[in-house]
Amino acid sequence: MPVLVGERVHIRPHRREELAKLVKLRNRGVNQWGWRRRFYSLEEIEAEFERNGLIDPERHVVLAIVDKNTQDYLGAVEYFNINWFDATVSLSMYLLGEDRLGKGIGSEATRLIVSHLMGDFPFVRIEAETTPDNQAARRVLEKNGFKLEGTKRMAAWAEGRWCDLCLYALTRPDWERLREGEE
Ligand SMILES: CC(C)(COP(=O)(O)OP(=O)(O)OC[C@H]1O[C@@H](n2cnc3c(N)ncnc32)[C@H](O)[C@@H]1OP(=O)(O)O)[C@@H](O)C(=O)NCCC(=O)NCCS
Repeated sequence: MPVLVGERVHIRPHRREELAKLVKLRNRGVNQWGWRRRFYSLEEIEAEFERNGLIDPERHVVLAIVDKNTQDYLGAVEYFNINWFDATVSLSMYLLGEDRLGKGIGSEATRLIVSHLMGDFPFVRIEAETTPDNQAARRVLEKNGFKLEGTKRMAAWAEGRWCDLCLYALTRPDWERLREGEE
């Protein structure tokens, strides 16, 4: 797995000392963001880390987003539902610490991971889902070329209620058009 280098962040495999922060983030996702189905323990994440460094290229890859200069842990990005037959994959991202939100980190990290998935693999479609009121996530996806394909009704249990989920996707032709526009 190469280190993905942006202007402000690196995306790279996790280090053991970062796993407690990852568990905290993942467990926030259970209720608050609605896309985790159960709580995780540090022990099980550590056991998975021992097995594969949280990188299972056939199924699910979990990477750390860190500050390029200090290597401070900023959050995580995961890609999963890896389907090599249809060449599709799902993406989710979450940053640690309210004070870090809204400063462009999510946009840059999304651009980096999308370039990696489209540039280094033959994926033709990347999916991402978010609750309708998550304006930051929606904006970050739209800025990176993802298109809203529809709303899945009552698709996730979050913050004590059933929530709809907006389904976004970026296809390879979308990504190629975006890159041509940037050049
Ligand atoms: C979603 C998330 C990764 C985005 O990262 P971020 O670093 O906060 O995002 P950025 O600062 O790069 O961009 C946020 C964009 O949303 C916009 N935005 C934020 N809140 C908004 C609101 N309430 N209404 C409209 N736009 C909003 C910002 O203006 C910015 O757009 P701009 O660059 O055009 O000005 C981050 O907020 C996060 O971790 N949230 C919690 C977990 C989560 O919801 N993950 C997504 C699951 S798919």
